[in-house]
Amino acid sequence: MKIFLDTANLKSIRKFNDMGLLDGITTNPSLMFKEGGNPKDAMEEITKVIKGDVSLEVVSTEYSGMMEEGKRLRQYGDNVVVKVPMTPDGLKACKSFSSEGIPVNVTLIFSANQALLAAKAGAKYVSPFIGRLDDIGQDGMKLIHEIKDIFSNYNFGTQILVASVRHPVHVVDAAKIGADVVTLPPAVLDKMLLHPLTKIGLDNFLTDWDKLKSVNPDIKI
Ligand code: G3P
Repeated sequence: MKIFLDTANLKSIRKFNDMGLLDGITTNPSLMFKEGGNPKDAMEEITKVIKGDVSLEVVSTEYSGMMEEGKRLRQYGDNVVVKVPMTPDGLKACKSFSSEGIPVNVTLIFSANQALLAAKAGAKYVSPFIGRLDDIGQDGMKLIHEIKDIFSNYNFGTQILVASVRHPVHVVDAAKIGADVVTLPPAVLDKMLLHPLTKIGLDNFLTDWDKLKSVNPDIKI
């Protein structure tokens, strides 16, 4: 399963990229707003730092505006995936971009039917928002199961990009289903790294090493 970071925060992107964990990045206008500053600078930098796919989102709601914005976004790099909303105009733009060989991520997917239509329109990625479904009392992960079942019957070539991930259990469940990608807020990836027994174990190793050194002060690894 590929791991994308769902952020426009360059410090986090660099931190996890240096660990070799990132296959790509997803952004959206809300994440850009959260970082402040000029989003152009962030987009320029992110597309340079990350070799994998970087989803940058259009803000136009009609077809021609989406096409213009998508083409401008692609100027940041060949790794830019144009992110369009799951609307009739978004699907039309998806079809046009895909026909030109420009990869598209269709976002704000909340049903299996929407995922099916986005795949038919040629999307490289569909982004079901599982946390927001959980928030309204629906089972977000059930949607990932459904999309996975449907896609496995056909050869769309569309990848399931699990979005709106809220905690590490979402990640394990998505991996068990065989989702292609999860996009994670930095806080979720931070939590995935940690286990209390790892910390306790390391503390014990270091304490014992100090004891060893206290009787053999010259030893070194
Ligand atoms: O990738 C989509 C994501 O940014 C939405 O997450 O937590 O706002 O539902 P959230």
